[in-house]
Amino acid sequence: MCGIASYIGHRNAYPLILEMLKRLEYRGYDSAGIALCSQGKMKIYKEQGAIAALAESLSKQKPKGNLGIGHTRWATHGPATKINAHPHYSQNRRISIVHNGTVLNYYKLKEGLEKAGYEFYGETDTEILANYLDYWQQKNKGKLLSAIINTAPLLKGHSAFVAHDNQEPDSLYACNLGGELFVGRSQESEYFICSDKNALAGYADEYLALENGQIAVIQKDINCCLLNSSSAEELPCSWEKLKASAETLEKGSYPHFMLKEIFEQENVVAKTIDNLINDNGQALNLSLNNWRQKIAKMRKLVIIACGTSWHAGLVAKHFFAELAKLPVYCEYASEFLPESIDAEDIIIAISQSGSTADTLQAVQAAKERGASVISICNVDGSALTRTADVSLLTIAGPEIGVASTKAFTTQLAVLYILSVRFGRWRNQLKANEEKKIWQEIKMIPGKIKKILLSGPEIEKLAKKYKDYPNFLFLGRGQNFPIALEGALKLKEVSYIHAEGLSAGEMKHGSIALIDEQMPSFFIAVKDGQYDKVINNLLEISARQGHIIAVTTDKDQIIIDRADDIIPIPECPPLLYPFLTVIPTQLFAYYVARERGTNIDKPRNLAKAVTVE
Ligand code: F6R
Repeated sequence: MCGIASYIGHRNAYPLILEMLKRLEYRGYDSAGIALCSQGKMKIYKEQGAIAALAESLSKQKPKGNLGIGHTRWATHGPATKINAHPHYSQNRRISIVHNGTVLNYYKLKEGLEKAGYEFYGETDTEILANYLDYWQQKNKGKLLSAIINTAPLLKGHSAFVAHDNQEPDSLYACNLGGELFVGRSQESEYFICSDKNALAGYADEYLALENGQIAVIQKDINCCLLNSSSAEELPCSWEKLKASAETLEKGSYPHFMLKEIFEQENVVAKTIDNLINDNGQALNLSLNNWRQKIAKMRKLVIIACGTSWHAGLVAKHFFAELAKLPVYCEYASEFLPESIDAEDIIIAISQSGSTADTLQAVQAAKERGASVISICNVDGSALTRTADVSLLTIAGPEIGVASTKAFTTQLAVLYILSVRFGRWRNQLKANEEKKIWQEIKMIPGKIKKILLSGPEIEKLAKKYKDYPNFLFLGRGQNFPIALEGALKLKEVSYIHAEGLSAGEMKHGSIALIDEQMPSFFIAVKDGQYDKVINNLLEISARQGHIIAVTTDKDQIIIDRADDIIPIPECPPLLYPFLTVIPTQLFAYYVARERGTNIDKPRNLAKAVTVE
């Protein structure tokens, strides 16, 4: 979704902002723009479509300025046109602004401004915001800061913005009102403002995460000062070292980030496990040691997440139910009902980005009910890790492909290890059982590697099945969420319609869809559901449905009942989702490649969904 990249320092801001915007491309956008301040005047350049189109249109002009604000827009208020692209400016062109999030009450503010004689060139809430700041500035006859402080409490919704006033040519104001914004600082006292911390890699040495309700006032060659947006009180700046490196943002020799990230799973799952269990098979400090009492006494566990992270939560339901004997509910964050939560409940919020608006809202609502929140997140310092009571990180490294892959398997690793700890602290598991479990999980990365080697076979299957317009994905038990995830992955990157179903539920309705035009991708491994799954396979083949089955090794019983198989190694039943998901990811990737879609940035999707 929308991205902010801004700069103030001694270098030309244009190439720096352009590069940071390119790093934000993966988050999804449909227009881009940059404003540069030179000799006290802000010049705005914007284009509909890709950043490359903006760069192309500016290739002859070579724009310059030591201060600039840049943006990638994902259209909400008004279509993706050049005029609606950011930066926006006030009617008198004094104030310019880039803005993420939404001003829900923009139309009310607009009415007031219209009465005061303001006119608008576009349809965005951001243009209203620029003029609202201008309105307050004219009223107060003060600096832009006082206009921001007056405006902030009147904005409904969640926003983060960077604003500039031509009358203060050496200053930038960054304000976070429920979005995400990071200020980066280099050793040469340059400042970078970005909505994605990773995009600061290679530019900034340290960063400051702006909390909700904070304004950073940055003055060229002077300093960055942090203020509370409602009281204007000055706050201490807590700079942290920036650890991300620029190489992790490259795809190397892979044609797509999605493929690179699928192949990284062997490694990143191992790293995530090693971060939580040492070589002697002992669980390391999960930063939860003082939660032992709480975990022993808790009433219920509620997992909240969206999309792929929600599917990880559905798998984890099985982990916690079996290993910790806990009542577990796994809810879409957007459908979460806080009314059922109380102070004895524990919430696990799962999010790759840590900036998903629905998840953040649900976490906030749960905290207001007194629940304790554990986050499982891939981005340290994100809004989610800052809001949760305790955070466990997945060590997946930046995930750039919009379709989530390595985040999912690393989330499963953390969830599995956590469920074992819960089991121990709730006296449901013995020490020797725990030790055996650690040994088993340590074998998983090697098994993932074996499946990755079958990439060429899956590529052949993708060629065979690429033209079917619909697909079913079927699984049972802990592999039912993998059916949901497999269908989501295929839809996202290939644009083929796919439905994930519980294989057991199929006969209650969806079986009506089966004919030779409706292939089924079956998870049919040797677990407690095996016999029932064979039955379900027969139900489909009896109705001329084609079957691709993920099997344990080369299972003759399944071979005899499926059209095609993808063998995976054997493992303890509860751990199968770590393995069964890999063929679904590769299948989606190769089908998409055959169909020539934009795999890393599928149409209409955004990497971080920062609107509700
Ligand atoms: C699917 C996908 C999305 C995300 C969802 C939640 O491939 O990427 O479904 O899983 O938007 O995002 P996070 O995990 O960042 O909260």
